[in-house]
Amino acid sequence: MNVIIGQNAKELGIEAGKKSAVLIRQAIRENGSANIILATGSSQFETLKQLILEEGIEWNKVTMFHLDEYIGLPVSHKASFRRYLKERFLDQVPELKSVNLINGETDAREECKRLGDLIYKSPVDVALVGIGENGHLAFNDPPADFETGEAYIIASLDNECRQQQVNEDWFGFVEEVPKQAISMSVKQIMKSKHIVCSVPDIRKAKAVKDSLEENVSNLHPASILQNHPDCYLFLEKSSASLLTKKEDYGEKNKNN
Ligand code: GLP
Repeated sequence: MNVIIGQNAKELGIEAGKKSAVLIRQAIRENGSANIILATGSSQFETLKQLILEEGIEWNKVTMFHLDEYIGLPVSHKASFRRYLKERFLDQVPELKSVNLINGETDAREECKRLGDLIYKSPVDVALVGIGENGHLAFNDPPADFETGEAYIIASLDNECRQQQVNEDWFGFVEEVPKQAISMSVKQIMKSKHIVCSVPDIRKAKAVKDSLEENVSNLHPASILQNHPDCYLFLEKSSASLLTKKEDYGEKNKNN
């Protein structure tokens, strides 16, 4: 795991966005195209802001997959992740080769199968992900299913996850947050050739510590990233504040 600790969320996003762009350009150079996964949530704000500014990405050679979406939430709702990606990414870059958003308003099992068939044919080069306050990766809340071979699954959201969405003001109260989502599975995320994980904010400090310094366990879903061969974890001072082994994470962090 490559851990990069920035001074603040802005700097984290700039570094994570730049790294994502380097990896996308590299995939296009090597294969003529790139397959990417985009996440949403507040953790991706600054990263996506930087990614859309990056020059020299042939977006018409990029196929996008979507990490997770609530079941039953209309695209007009401010918490809709399709809406989020449209406003913060798709409307900001030239047309992509292909866009595979998750429709949470149709038959969820059929939608998982449809997207699963597409992603099986499209090995992912770069996945942008975040870590939730409860340590989740996508909507794989603890205890996460580390075993399923399905690419997309129907996930139940736990109370901590639903409360986080209210605290971030995506919803007015917890009863309004859907109880289920379509989520990319942990195994599918781990198949990505490169992973860029953006985790700002003091609220994530405990989840970051558990993910990096506890043993890999489905009780800390993002701890699985320790097993990935090319994962870049972008933190900032506050989200990294509980780490006790910073010196083990590389040259770049000596001054933090
Ligand atoms: C969220 C989103 C994911 C994101 C992850 C962490 O709930 N559904 O796409 O990667 O969980 O992000 P955040 O804590 O910013 O919501």
